[in-house]
Amino acid sequence: MKSVEKQQEYNLIASRLLEHVEMRSTDMADQQMRIASDSYADPERWEREMEQIFKRLPLLVGLSGELPEPGFYKTKNLLGVPLLLTRLKDGSVRAMLNACAHRGMQVAEGEGKCDKFACPYHAWLYGNDGSLQRVYGEDTYGAVDKAAMSLTQLPVYERGGLIFAVLTPGVEVDFEEFLGGMIEDIESLGFADWHYCGQRVIQGANWKVAYDGYLEGYHFAAAHPKTINARTYSNIMEFRGYGPHLLIAFPQRSIAKLNDVPKNERYKHENDGYDFVRTIFPNTSIFVAPEITQVAQLIPGPTVGENTTILHYIHHRKPETAEDTQKLEEMMDWLRDVVQTEDYDLGLKVQNGMASGAFSHVTFGRNERGNQYFHRWLEYYLSDDPERTQPEL
Ligand code: FES
Ligand SMILES: [Fe+2]
Repeated sequence: MKSVEKQQEYNLIASRLLEHVEMRSTDMADQQMRIASDSYADPERWEREMEQIFKRLPLLVGLSGELPEPGFYKTKNLLGVPLLLTRLKDGSVRAMLNACAHRGMQVAEGEGKCDKFACPYHAWLYGNDGSLQRVYGEDTYGAVDKAAMSLTQLPVYERGGLIFAVLTPGVEVDFEEFLGGMIEDIESLGFADWHYCGQRVIQGANWKVAYDGYLEGYHFAAAHPKTINARTYSNIMEFRGYGPHLLIAFPQRSIAKLNDVPKNERYKHENDGYDFVRTIFPNTSIFVAPEITQVAQLIPGPTVGENTTILHYIHHRKPETAEDTQKLEEMMDWLRDVVQTEDYDLGLKVQNGMASGAFSHVTFGRNERGNQYFHRWLEYYLSDDPERTQPEL
């Protein structure tokens, strides 16, 4: 259910999009914005982005549907950090470092269902809440204070079908404040009960080169002539900022039909006249569609010029027949191929062009408002100026 404010906001966005389509206009920033090409390629700066942003802010670590029931677990590696996610009997989620208190071995592998983990090296036994339960040969090893030797817990937060954690133990964060209005918006979509269909993994350029592509529809006509451009107008957008996160609205080719829908009813027409991309700073982009919904999670590295992107797919209901499943699989392949061939292959060429030294800067237009906002927030988090103020759209 959407709140009344949210309904009003969506009504307004839909009406603005109708006007934009009619006038061939778009939401615009006051001015253009230049960014040094170097800032995409400098390893020292990349390290700071990893340390100050990726390792200190709440980061999407998974989707609720990846751990559908108590007892499920999944291991991951994010930015070189080995993670173990588990769902406990009471339904809550734990995010822990997947590293044994004895000598550091990864206690769990892959994914599955079980509520205990025996370390493969010397068989110390952990519960799925991370508690150390048994030390093999303790009479020979010597006494162990088990309570002090649990797996290391990370701050974790699950809401709206998404799981967030902070990759550095002990860092205090206010998840609610950070995720703010954006998580409320996502929660109202009901993701928490959706079916996790699966994922596709692709590789691309520097994480910001790749992420820039999720923040504007200026490239639709040239880069996606037969795919996205067939559904959506190119270069027409409306932006809303929730803290560092963005709600980006795009008019569908069929949006004119909303002229016949009363202004206060237009909020009901997401995916039926207009679409949204929702981003969660710094590295997640969600495209909701009734056919299938894509949650793109960009993972920088291992070097400055590379990223691995996990494309997670969810659907509002579980497929009932083999045919339904097949359809979803085909849709995941199709979307993966679009992102790989029309966005990420292009991103690698962008990266080469930037590195050629041809221009010292790239320039975002007034229409590329989402990119401007994203880069201003990056600067905000990287700055150590105590006087700094939070960017506004
Ligand atoms: S490293 Fe895990 S039991 Fe030795
Ligand atoms: Fe694109």
